Amino acid sequence: MNVTVAPAIDIDANRRLLNRYRYVVHEAMRILAGWLPAAARFELKCEFGRTIWENSLHVNALYLRLREIQSPAFQRPADVALVRLMEECLHAPDEYALALAYYGVVTPSLIAALENHETATFPNSDLPSVRAIQHMLLDLKAERLRLQPLLKDAEQAGRISPAARAWERYMRALLSAAGGVSGLESRGPTPAAALERVPFVAPREARRDERFTNLGSDVAAMPAEEDHDAHTVEEFERYSTEMLAAETVAVVMFGITKMPWEFQFDSARHLYDEVRHALMGYEWMRHHRMDPYQSPQYLQIFKWRCQFPPVMQYCMLTMGNEVHAFPYRHRRVEAHQKSGDLLSEQFVRYDIADETQHVRFGKRWLPELLEHTGESRPLDQYIADCLKVWEEQYRTGKLSINVE
Ligand SMILES: [Fe+2]
Ligand SMILES: [Fe+2]
Repeated sequence: MNVTVAPAIDIDANRRLLNRYRYVVHEAMRILAGWLPAAARFELKCEFGRTIWENSLHVNALYLRLREIQSPAFQRPADVALVRLMEECLHAPDEYALALAYYGVVTPSLIAALENHETATFPNSDLPSVRAIQHMLLDLKAERLRLQPLLKDAEQAGRISPAARAWERYMRALLSAAGGVSGLESRGPTPAAALERVPFVAPREARRDERFTNLGSDVAAMPAEEDHDAHTVEEFERYSTEMLAAETVAVVMFGITKMPWEFQFDSARHLYDEVRHALMGYEWMRHHRMDPYQSPQYLQIFKWRCQFPPVMQYCMLTMGNEVHAFPYRHRRVEAHQKSGDLLSEQFVRYDIADETQHVRFGKRWLPELLEHTGESRPLDQYIADCLKVWEEQYRTGKLSINVE
């Protein structure tokens, strides 16, 4: 029987395309994690964090579909031009060059590819792909709506350099050489490496924009919990500095490759939770007519952590800061309930829910991380050794307490 097949995407083209989309959003997670501490502009840093998390949801949706139609589910695309596009993306000359390249060049092409795919595939036979694509499109279009005004403001404020614009043109040429994210468009010539290219080096210091003026002051003792109002102000000011925890998880995500996908998935959520905790501090402070940009940023904590290997940073964060914060957090919930402060109570309870997951992530992944890095000490010994450093250098003296 000779039947006309209407849809343009057959199953082989389908898995090749889904793998291309997966590769682009997956690579972007690592690139943005590498850049997160180095991005100074607060709103852009928060967007990088959100993209890392939302992209992890997209990779996961594509992973669940891809594993049904190819094995292994994740494959490096055979198209060297697409691989070059994403590999080059990391070496942007500054944070706005990266933002213009990813949000202004790569993402629009991905959206166009997904929109085409949504209607060009078999609507019933390939419904699981269609559903995943529709959900990705919702997020990606919302992301675009948030990024466009942010980049326009940057342009008007003169924060976008000629080098960033040149980088945007270079990325556009690389995308054209790859035939767009889909690879189905006519291909342009392969461009030579841009002069503006700066080989990426993982940052060992975190950056903040010029609105933050107190970057490295010592962590002072908090007012006593009995002094409820003064303590609460400090409690939420400390939340506003939790970008430091997001930046540490970013170092872990960028520095530790070849862990199972589920580790990256959990870490992306961990990272964005910490951005959300910082934003919760901002929200609380603004609600109480305080300016979060005046908060001390304690950037020395990030610098201190970066002396240690990423696995040790992860261990100190999850088994040190996060495990030990619970008795204090529960006392705070009680104190806020007693004083009838519903907003503070709710914020801390949501924080406890997130932090419970972060400790779970630590317990789940540390054994595998140690194996992955060839650590010879048993897990208990390794954790005890890390906590000794954490107790001696972080909890006492100049770094003192800073729950995250
Ligand atoms: Fe946490
Ligand atoms: Fe946190």
